[in-house]
Amino acid sequence: MPERKKPPISRTELNECRRCALWRNATQGVPGEGAAHARIMLVGEQPGTQEDLQGSPFVGPAGHLLDEALGKAGLDRDKLFMTNAVKHFKFEWRGKRRLHKSPAQQEIEACNLWLERELEQVNPKVVVALGATAARAVLGRKSVTLGEMMDTPVEHEGRLVIATYHPSFALRQRSDEARTAAFERIVRSLRAAARLARGGEET
Ligand code: URA
Repeated sequence: MPERKKPPISRTELNECRRCALWRNATQGVPGEGAAHARIMLVGEQPGTQEDLQGSPFVGPAGHLLDEALGKAGLDRDKLFMTNAVKHFKFEWRGKRRLHKSPAQQEIEACNLWLERELEQVNPKVVVALGATAARAVLGRKSVTLGEMMDTPVEHEGRLVIATYHPSFALRQRSDEARTAAFERIVRSLRAAARLARGGEET
């Protein structure tokens, strides 16, 4: 079994965080979870409604799709570390439903301290950014071109960072064809991450 110790950041610390206002409406902060010294870290955007309620990353519909993609890429979730760029759920009420709202740059920056701590302690060799928000947060840049980063890993602070679609992007596609194409692209990126973590070159 991969070594599991105290997560790099605790829920209590996140619940006490006042660096931005997202704590006000969220149920709780959602820290990253996974193997203490995972070679691969997956970074999403922010918790969704299920993650907010359950307190763990990627346990809702996007997480289920991600699990499927991990399985297809031959990666074991228990050996990875999963987290988000922003640790509180940002949403707006639509009737009785809480609809996801994208975090603002200021909120991403305010939360970066927690992501940095996770990166420092887990010290992964490869970081997979799921979507543009995650890529911006990991690289500390205001804009990134997802397309370029999907094909070419970027070296950043001693790690390899690759990007791929966020699983929610695949879920949002209207046609089966587009959904399958996005899903397969995620699988391809996860396979590339596995190769990079083993020390193989990406071509
Ligand atoms: N979307 C994310 O980016 N992260 C989660 O944990 C769940 C959904």
